Amino acid sequence: MRIDVLTIFPEFFREVFDFGIIRRARGGGIVEINVHDLRDFTLDKHRKVDDRPFGGGDGMVLMAEPVFRAIENLVGTADRGEYPEGTRVVLLSPQGRPLKQEVAREFAEGGSHIVLICGRYEGVDERVNKALVTDELSIGDYVLSGGEPAAVVVVDAIVRLLPDALGSDTSAANDSFSDGLLDCPHYTQPRDFRGMQVPEVLLGGNHAEIEKWRHEMALEKTKKVRQDLLKKENGCK
Ligand code: ADE
Repeated sequence: MRIDVLTIFPEFFREVFDFGIIRRARGGGIVEINVHDLRDFTLDKHRKVDDRPFGGGDGMVLMAEPVFRAIENLVGTADRGEYPEGTRVVLLSPQGRPLKQEVAREFAEGGSHIVLICGRYEGVDERVNKALVTDELSIGDYVLSGGEPAAVVVVDAIVRLLPDALGSDTSAANDSFSDGLLDCPHYTQPRDFRGMQVPEVLLGGNHAEIEKWRHEMALEKTKKVRQDLLKKENGCK
């Protein structure tokens, strides 16, 4: 998979993709990640990327021109109807579809070239959305000052789901949300830590019992903090 990030703050990403699973996936050729400065796609000598909104109002709006030129350069066309198969051009904004585990999976399985456009909180010229964007994504119901932190979240959520990214000893199959529930609790050595014990069931080696316990704990946790997930799982929504 290839991921291109378009931003006015390329420095923000300097090291963030150099750790853990993402670093390993990049090193192993599972994913290629490139960060691009939107100002490199401007035409004027001031490298202008934003301007005041038509109709008035506060703040600055990201201009269409540098984004169009960047997409032409990276994808080959600024017409989303003409994108090669597997190309997704994503605008990160609070107006987007909420990022969920199933959305990350959809990208990991269906995308081969993903371009992430980091918007600014004041907005992006709507013609970017009209002509270029295939998916608008939000990472939650709060407003960030820009799409950069959201791009990091999206990259992480997708890359760890790519085949072989987690390595042979780990699997995404038991992650929170993979079965519609939050994850169960986990324990490691020592058995007794400052007087707090590991639950007996985990020490007995009875795998059916362990699975049953894990499911019960996941259900209990989900009931306690995320009733909304249970409603969905039971088809009550
Ligand atoms: N940009 C600003 N806020 C955002 C959010 N919640 N999700 C994605 N991009 C954003």
